Amino acid sequence: MGPNLSFLNFNTISPSVHILYLRYLHPLAKYPGPFFWTVSRIPFALSLQSGHLVHDTKRFHDQYGTIVRLAPNELSFIEPQAWYDIYGHRKKGHKEFMKNPIWTPPSPNGVHSLINAAEKDHPRMRKPLVPAFSSKALRDQEATVQIFKTPGDLGFGEPFNCLRDDKYHPWVSFLYGHLKDGALRASVRFYPWVSSLLFAFVPKSAYKAAHDHFAMSCEKLRRRMALKTNRRDFLSYILRENSDKGMTIPELEATSALLIVAGSESTSTMLTATTNYLVRSPWKLTKLTNEIRSTFSDESEITMGAVEHLPYLRAVLQEGMRMAPPVPSQIPRIVPPEGDIVCGNSLPGNTFVGVPQFAAYRYAPFFVYPNEFLPERWLPDDSPLNNRSDEDPTFNSRSFSADTKNIVQPFSVGPRNCIGMNLAYAEMRLIFARLLYNFNLELPRKAEDEETFKFENQKTFALWERQPCMVEIRKR
Ligand code: HEM
Repeated sequence: MGPNLSFLNFNTISPSVHILYLRYLHPLAKYPGPFFWTVSRIPFALSLQSGHLVHDTKRFHDQYGTIVRLAPNELSFIEPQAWYDIYGHRKKGHKEFMKNPIWTPPSPNGVHSLINAAEKDHPRMRKPLVPAFSSKALRDQEATVQIFKTPGDLGFGEPFNCLRDDKYHPWVSFLYGHLKDGALRASVRFYPWVSSLLFAFVPKSAYKAAHDHFAMSCEKLRRRMALKTNRRDFLSYILRENSDKGMTIPELEATSALLIVAGSESTSTMLTATTNYLVRSPWKLTKLTNEIRSTFSDESEITMGAVEHLPYLRAVLQEGMRMAPPVPSQIPRIVPPEGDIVCGNSLPGNTFVGVPQFAAYRYAPFFVYPNEFLPERWLPDDSPLNNRSDEDPTFNSRSFSADTKNIVQPFSVGPRNCIGMNLAYAEMRLIFARLLYNFNLELPRKAEDEETFKFENQKTFALWERQPCMVEIRKR
């Protein structure tokens, strides 16, 4: 680590001396990264605004290795241990790495939702939610999950009716606008002294979408709270568990808006991406379809419990999340003020850190054929499903046993990991099982030559900005 010269105000000396300091003497100077990124936050902010931060981050990891300096005060890690050091449960004497306030502003009603809650508030707010996402609660709500009306029905006892009305509920576009607004605003918050000026450049449409989304969530919450009903939905569990020591009403409002976004965007990204990879790999699609159709002889047999143990379906979902993680960028955290250790590196307090999933999951030293959709890598080498010779004889020589699979943590780890993981898996398994039981899927002929479309090339603003992915569907 270089000498600590922070007592000098290099800004007042000269910009070039300041740049030299950042590059060669700053405590993070020893970590590699592209020159302009290591001496200024501007390239990072511009990349974020362009929607290509995840692609740039991947490029830098491919070039520089598992630790990259992405900005003067920010390091990006793609080693499995980084998950536990940054996000995991803390060992004695180590403080939690805080959520980065640049990315976690309060909701429009002035309070934080669960995902952005301060460390002191987070356990109090998470506790009443835990029973709503337990295996028992999911089983109780199976009928609702089965008809895929989540998260409107599960969350608030009333559906969005997108399918009945054969058109998108305005909420669907609000959701994405809300996320995009959040990412664009974060890029501006890096410059507090000019942020009010820069905010003027954030599109008004994204800001409006964020506010409309929030207003609609609050309205749904109010209606649901006024409803006298015995039905089981998230709210019934939360209201039963919530007490004076739980969430306040404004916190509940903010968290309801979060549940709608978290519960719909990530799962639908996963389904879209995986369907797209499947129709472009017909052998895999056939293998999965055969597994489902040979297991069930009637659609009514497709239940949450029954789909849990289909090995190829499991492997397909894991591989879908590796190829297109729904949360593709780093989940930003800050090293506690007294400093801490990440992957054996002693880091100064207040360093920004994170694990960028997209870069980590396609890192060539971690995976054989990192850019290919190969669900087989998630099966044991001797699995009967691992009959790769029929599709490509060279596969016989492949073994995936050396893949660094524990880098893949799409739901994050530790006390702030995804509370909806079980629900997400249940939904995704049921949707694929019922879809492929009933329908034959194919890449539309028109799209066959369309080499240019790749799910992973789409822009991201916190989550993927999804373009239409065309699939031909026929009743079997
Ligand atoms: C494939 C689907 C999903 C993926 C990959 C995913 C991923 C994640 C990740 C990575 C986090 C941590 C974010 C952070 O630390 O800032 C998270 C948090 C969260 N997720 Fe999910 N999620 C998925 C589905 C769901 C569903 C279906 C729900 C609920 C309906 C949900 C609700 C939440 C909530 C409430 C949090 C915040 C938890 C906390 O801060 O304590 N997620 N999710």
